[in-house]
Amino acid sequence: MPFDVARVRGLFPTLGDGYIHLDGPAGMLIPESVARAVSAAMRVPLSNRHGPFPSSARADALVDAARRAFADLVGGDPAGVILGPNMTTITYGLARTLAKTWRVGDEVVLSRLDHDANIRPWLTAAKSAGAVVRWAEVDIETCELPEWQYDELITRRTRLVAVTAASNAVGTRPNVRAISDRAHQVGALVHVDGVHAAPHGPLDMARLGADLVATSAYKWGGPHMSATVAAPALLDTLAPDKLVPSPDAVPDRFETGTAAFELMAGVVAAVDHLAGLDDGAVGSRRDRILASMSAVQRYEASVLARLESGLRSLLHVYALGSPRNRTPTLSFSVKGWKPRAVTEELARRGICAWDGDYYAYELMESLGVGELGGAVRVGLVHYNTAHEVDRLLDALQELR
Ligand SMILES: Cc1ncc(COP(=O)(O)O)c(C=O)c1O
Repeated sequence: MPFDVARVRGLFPTLGDGYIHLDGPAGMLIPESVARAVSAAMRVPLSNRHGPFPSSARADALVDAARRAFADLVGGDPAGVILGPNMTTITYGLARTLAKTWRVGDEVVLSRLDHDANIRPWLTAAKSAGAVVRWAEVDIETCELPEWQYDELITRRTRLVAVTAASNAVGTRPNVRAISDRAHQVGALVHVDGVHAAPHGPLDMARLGADLVATSAYKWGGPHMSATVAAPALLDTLAPDKLVPSPDAVPDRFETGTAAFELMAGVVAAVDHLAGLDDGAVGSRRDRILASMSAVQRYEASVLARLESGLRSLLHVYALGSPRNRTPTLSFSVKGWKPRAVTEELARRGICAWDGDYYAYELMESLGVGELGGAVRVGLVHYNTAHEVDRLLDALQELR
């Protein structure tokens, strides 16, 4: 069934603001169903967890429902879903926790393709444990992450490999499975950053070979909340820093402080939104997510093809990389223009795009554009259209 983008756009009243939103990789707009779900959760009595009264039972139910929703999105076990305010905070906590199990001379493998949130927490934790950091480099022509280099990077001392399922700057989807297979041969854990990949296609932690996978709901139409999903048996072996009176069970012991229960209602609505994007999809919510996200991937690929060929025809625009397997996110420079000046011009023409390094700091440094103010990033999500791409191309044409 063709992807019904007109129906999908109708689910996002905020698209009516007159702007073309190509800033999805920094956070998608919110469908009305999500805004309503959060509002509804705040319009009934809602208290803290574990009390013997209905408003507390509501908080418990929201936590359970959010765990099931995140688990359905990544193909995980709800009992292994660590909830938190954002991916960066959860990853810092996990890095501190895992580092307690590392010894001097152990090794951690990081990639320069990654967002800094899947780099700096591990790097800091490795330093504090006396572990060695080894780097996977990016091919600066293609912006691919060659997996063969992991043959040498992963050794018997490797304890953790952190890698992204997709780059938030240039869209590259590395071959995570080839990397995780190598890591598992030596018993290392694999932490996959699924934050950028999640809105662009089916995500399955078993297929990726991810021991831990992170995702942030605000990247796929949800509120500002995140989760990292692991097998409960793995979490059972770990001892995060925690308050004495807070629950010691898994996954609760990985969660600090009182959570944003009302936002959890929005997470559930956002996952239901994704599951409903292909309105012909049937079966369990996980089945419908897989069907819908496959439809999203096909649709986005068709709009991306137009964007890529249009940019290629603009001789004053230079796209960073040409990864074979990618999300519809790309970065480019415009000859004679600073990245911020380009996004200001685009904003004047009603187009939202990002400039800078988008926290893909190591990548931008590797590409040599860090000092130049980074690049301009546009990203398509499931509510963007070919017409919007044409408007972007027209606007860039004027910046010659
Ligand atoms: C690929 C990727 N990883 C991690 C993050 C950090 O996520 P959060 O904002 O939830 O901390 C982002 C945010 O832009 C991202 O794009």
